[in-house]
Amino acid sequence: MPRTKSPRQQQLEAMLLAPVDWLEERSGLVGGIKYFLFRKVPAETNWFHTLGSATLTAFIVQAITGVILAMYYKPDPDKAYDSIVHITNELTWGWLVRGMHRWGASVFIILLFLHMGRVFLFGAYKYPRELNWLVGVIILTMALMEGLTGYLLPWDQTSYWATVVAININANAPIAGPFIGDFLRGGTEIGPDTLARFYSLHMLLIPGALIGLILLHLYLVVRLGITPPPWTKSAAGYEPVENGRTVKQGLVEPKPRGNGNDAPPGTD
Ligand code: HEM
Repeated sequence: MPRTKSPRQQQLEAMLLAPVDWLEERSGLVGGIKYFLFRKVPAETNWFHTLGSATLTAFIVQAITGVILAMYYKPDPDKAYDSIVHITNELTWGWLVRGMHRWGASVFIILLFLHMGRVFLFGAYKYPRELNWLVGVIILTMALMEGLTGYLLPWDQTSYWATVVAININANAPIAGPFIGDFLRGGTEIGPDTLARFYSLHMLLIPGALIGLILLHLYLVVRLGITPPPWTKSAAGYEPVENGRTVKQGLVEPKPRGNGNDAPPGTD
């Protein structure tokens, strides 16, 4: 028998839900979040599907530790190295925050490649998810640029000479190379303008672009649904058909394509 709530409980529940209802009526946000949390994913979803969320977690750690570092870092050739030494040796937990940001950068890139590898091996880049793959490729380029621009900031011997090499490689590209070199250096030589430029790109432009692109990426994941693994009947390229229509994935109903109605190899 369903448990009946006392009038007092009902009153309390209505009072607690009032702000939520207010927000939902004016924005539809609550319904959207509910859809996101309780939407259907393929039954065969497995650990490989967690790599995207792991990449997102690594990005969020980078954003939080980066904001803390930016409170103490000074983008000036005379002060940059000293400010890094100050963060590492004198600030409370400074060594930890800097270490998390430095090692986290590698973790982020490694997870990005693992996630991309999973998407490739599961064929998840195929119709209708080609656009999301392209968005991912731009994210990857931006993430690598973030690594390059961040590496110069400590302004020590390693970061200085590594950046000289990286800029020279770019500057040797045919036709556009010299322009890219001048743009990255902010002139003909690496100096204060290069540091200011890399700091601005590392702190503002690239993270801003990454946040926008990741939101678009996640919107497309929710809209298009998750691709089941290749060993299942509904693997990428083999959309199951019910009553003459393809089964809805996410919020869309993909059009049947090619031999889309055949069972994938090895499942019969
Ligand atoms: C900051 C970087 C990234 C984040 C935070 C991210 C996040 C996610 C998440 C949470 C998912 C859904 C769950 C999953 O499949 O793991 C996903 C799916 C997907 N991602 Fe990424 N991703 C990133 C980079 C990339 C890159 C570099 C590519 C490819 C070049 C890519 C292509 C895709 C595709 C095609 C899907 C759909 C997969 C499916 O339907 O099964 N993503 N991403």
